[in-house]
Amino acid sequence: QYPGYAPTPPMGWNDWSYYQCGENEQNVLANARALVSSGLAAKGYDTVTIDDCWMAADRDSAGNLVPDPTTFPDGMAYVGRRLHSMGLKFGIYEDAGTSTCGGYPGSEDHWTQDADLFASWGVDYVKLDGCNVPTPAGENDEQAYHATYAAMSQALLHSGRKMVFSISAPAYFEGTSAWDSVIGWSAQLGNLWREGDDIALGQESGAAKWSSIMDNYGYNVGLADLQAPGRWNDPDFLLAGDSGLSQDEIQSQVSLWAMMAAPLISSTDLTKASAGALAALGNKDVIAVDQDPLGLQGRIVAQGAGYDVLSKPLTGGDRAVALFNSSDSAQTVTVSAATAGLAEGSSFELENLVTKAVTQTTGTISADVPPHATVIYRVSPGGDRKVQPATAITWQDVS
Ligand code: GLA
Repeated sequence: QYPGYAPTPPMGWNDWSYYQCGENEQNVLANARALVSSGLAAKGYDTVTIDDCWMAADRDSAGNLVPDPTTFPDGMAYVGRRLHSMGLKFGIYEDAGTSTCGGYPGSEDHWTQDADLFASWGVDYVKLDGCNVPTPAGENDEQAYHATYAAMSQALLHSGRKMVFSISAPAYFEGTSAWDSVIGWSAQLGNLWREGDDIALGQESGAAKWSSIMDNYGYNVGLADLQAPGRWNDPDFLLAGDSGLSQDEIQSQVSLWAMMAAPLISSTDLTKASAGALAALGNKDVIAVDQDPLGLQGRIVAQGAGYDVLSKPLTGGDRAVALFNSSDSAQTVTVSAATAGLAEGSSFELENLVTKAVTQTTGTISADVPPHATVIYRVSPGGDRKVQPATAITWQDVS
């Protein structure tokens, strides 16, 4: 099994959803600086990943990948040094096939050469996509994918550098009978894996973004059985900061991803993100749910017309419980403590992780939830703290 280089879900930033092939040294480093200055880096968002299109069209005469001389004129070792000097980690995109999804040279048959090159650049995280993988046995040739990803997994392992390995293979088998099996070997060969569609791009409408968040949530929430602590399902990027989403939608995505112990990877222009978006991304209590050392993916424990209730066990006997209203009108969502996985008949303290209000209950967990919003609680047995009113939220000071 690939080493457990990601004991908690990876966190960071990736250029793809916002910039696509428009990424360059300036905008990547500007976002890196924004991660640091916003305080997000200190809260765990520490890996900056350069996605597709960073390469020149061809390998050099020695067969090495070459950064695009126009967009990355100082090369990738330089970018890596700059990121490391800010206390950040360096992630890079490649592909397991003959070419990347964007048409740049893929790693096929260059596993060791590429892994060693990445190591020499100081790369800490490799996302290996699965476009253009030759599949002699037909489109659903699971063996072909398995072989290519195993080859890169070995090459990274022997590169002499610790690199988190993000696998995209399952995303290419979504909806096929091989899906579970591909996720199974992805969990052996790497640390996290994309399993569904790409999240909406930055330029799409707010409605398209919300519906893609719902799609990716919908697939991912059913995969708790396929995740083990330290091996993460990846439902793709957080869109907080993009245009078109309401504050409730932004908060819902972050809260639902945290409930699922999903990687928290922002993909927006952080230099322009609203205070509300930065507050949602940087909510320490919600991040703590995501990063909880038990490493368990939360599950749906109750569901009704337009709502889901999720519950996630946390270390020390607490639970995170999220009441998600997926409908277009406000509703009261209620679940019994027992259904949420808590001991019947005990008394519990509920802390709303966004408003910080603390209430107490013995039997039910309930909230009035606006459309598309999620109320996320940390539920602790007993209740020795004083009941606290909600603090008025100014987005500047939420942490
Ligand atoms: C695929 C991936 C995306 C992104 C693009 C780049 O679509 O799923 O996350 O990496 O390729 O071309």
